[in-house]
Amino acid sequence: MTKSTAILLALTTTLFALSLVLAQTQSPDTINLENSHGTVTLDHAGHAKRLGPEKCSTCHHTSTVDAQDYQKCSNCHAPKKVKKDGVTIPSAKTAFHKSCRGCHKAESKGPLSCRECHKKGDPKTSD
Ligand code: HEC
Ligand code: HEC
Ligand code: HEC
Ligand code: HEC
Repeated sequence: MTKSTAILLALTTTLFALSLVLAQTQSPDTINLENSHGTVTLDHAGHAKRLGPEKCSTCHHTSTVDAQDYQKCSNCHAPKKVKKDGVTIPSAKTAFHKSCRGCHKAESKGPLSCRECHKKGDPKTSD
């Protein structure tokens, strides 16, 4: 191996490792969805892992691999539904219940009852 090849290889390895670290920080592990009915804790990494990396679009509308394309649902889904240019954007409650509860129901796996998802109090101290 020439010296320059070795340097290039070391550089590529470093960049690859760095991109993995960045990917991890950009796709959150656990997400606490605060709302008036009680915080819902989503094991984001666990759900993503079960579905596989090609299936991020099951929840996110986008299916690209660029983490920058992943937005918070609340950027568009507000507490009340919004009508814009003839399109109705469902409320956060409608969208999440459809997406989350809908899959649990379809797969007969994962919580369906209100209090299994909505926890009162601090999600970090109460179970
Ligand atoms: C079970 C549904 C679900 C799956 C599957 C899923 N996500 Fe998410 N993701 C969410 C929710 C819900 C949020 C939080 C949105 C919010 O705060 O409004 C989120 C947040 C994110 C964020 C942070 C956005 C921000 O600006 O804070 C990124 C990045 C992200 N997801 C990437 C991914 C990637 C990449 C995959 C696939 C490997 C994936 N997600 C799979 C539901 C999901
Ligand atoms: C950039 C804006 C935007 C973001 C971000 C967004 N949505 Fe949506 N969402 C929409 C719009 C617009 C519609 C209505 C689409 C239509 O009626 O054709 C919609 C519709 C939906 C629907 C209803 C689909 C149906 O079949 O009726 C669900 C469920 C949903 N979104 C879940 C989510 C979840 C979960 C997230 C976050 C992981 C999210 N959305 C992020 C804009 C967004
Ligand atoms: C595509 C299907 C799918 C979607 C979408 C989905 N889930 Fe799940 N969820 C599952 C499955 C399957 C399990 C059961 C896993 C097990 O038993 O090992 C589960 C389990 C859970 C659990 C129990 C703890 C755990 O992680 O095992 C919670 C809480 C949960 N989901 C919340 C949510 C929320 C909140 C959303 C929406 C943001 C959501 N899920 C969207 C399939 C889904
Ligand atoms: C699979 C998990 C899950 C189940 C089961 C579930 N919810 Fe939710 N619910 C959510 C998520 C996620 C949100 C959206 C949180 C957000 O806006 O960030 C939500 C939002 C809501 C909101 C809107 C709160 C606000 O501040 O706008 C109400 C009210 C609500 N749920 C009531 C219920 C009731 C009542 C039940 C039982 C019949 C129930 N939910 C079952 C996950 C669930």
